Amino acid sequence: MLYDWHKADDPMFSTLQDNTLQEITLAGKRIGLLKRGTELFAFAATCPHASAPLCEGWMDAQGRIVCPMHKYRFDPANGRNTSGEGYKLKTYPVEIREDYIYIGISAAI
Ligand code: FES
Repeated sequence: MLYDWHKADDPMFSTLQDNTLQEITLAGKRIGLLKRGTELFAFAATCPHASAPLCEGWMDAQGRIVCPMHKYRFDPANGRNTSGEGYKLKTYPVEIREDYIYIGISAAI
């Protein structure tokens, strides 16, 4: 898969709060971020079930994203719907370069 890498000017990786969902807009897309210690995950900020804003939800004790509307749960690493309803959350590759967050978005071919 080819990606275009987009740099987020804000937040920096070091200023992101741990275990907290945060939404940003990058390349015209609403993207959710979740930092867990040294790991960072990026995902579509709207729930694949009924489009609720996922970053108004929370992270559970297992490190999964919990949607605020119907409480479906998603693994931020791969988008798997771990509560079993059969949806798939879109995820994005992430890189940290000199504390800046870069997100890979599929290149249009
Ligand atoms: S809108 Fe997210 S679980 Fe229904």
